[in-house]
Amino acid sequence: MRLTIAIDGPAAAGKGTLSRALAAAFGLAHLDTGLIYRAAGRRTLDGTPALEAAQTMTATDLEADDLRTPDVARAASQVAAIPEVRAALVDFQRAFARRSGGSVLDGRDIGTVICPDAEVKFFVTASDDVRAERRFRELLGTGHDVTFESVLADLKERDARDSARAAAPMKPAVDAVVLDTSEMDIDAAVAAAISLVTDRTGCQPVT
Ligand code: CDP
Repeated sequence: MRLTIAIDGPAAAGKGTLSRALAAAFGLAHLDTGLIYRAAGRRTLDGTPALEAAQTMTATDLEADDLRTPDVARAASQVAAIPEVRAALVDFQRAFARRSGGSVLDGRDIGTVICPDAEVKFFVTASDDVRAERRFRELLGTGHDVTFESVLADLKERDARDSARAAAPMKPAVDAVVLDTSEMDIDAAVAAAISLVTDRTGCQPVT
């Protein structure tokens, strides 16, 4: 069976860590679709129109070393609300999802729009304070000069825009398993997700 796992959820919920762990456990390729929107948003900060940034995106854009900054996150969320930008990025994500070895994609609309037929879907979440604390520590660790309050305000603003937009709003797919990691460390979340994938699909972890 070709396994596709869809992981969605709000900002800094732990989607990336969980996706990488599931990809490693089941030998799947992983695509962080947030990085694609960040790369498009990044180019708009240099003056490139949003649609052009999406239509002309290259692998090099995804390798820029400043995609994880708060300014780029905000720009990503702004370009992500433009339906034409999303449409320009769909084919690449679907082609990745269909690769023969199986895949894990994480983002906001994977279970609802990009891979509605994914065998397993998760909606990963955590309280605002827990997510802001995780992102605050991450940003401090990478040398950013931020306060907890600014990180919390940024997350709330982005989540509100991502869930209120008309085009592919962030929401759990009806068949998604909601994983609230507010009180769970990452090892516990990964273990819970692995056993759910095995129960649902019969696939055994390879590592
Ligand atoms: O890492 P974090 O959860 O903070 O954000 P991300 O996954 O890198 O996504 C950055 C932004 O891209 C989000 O706030 C969304 O606006 C947008 N995005 C989206 O609209 N659809 C996706 N599939 C992935 C990201």
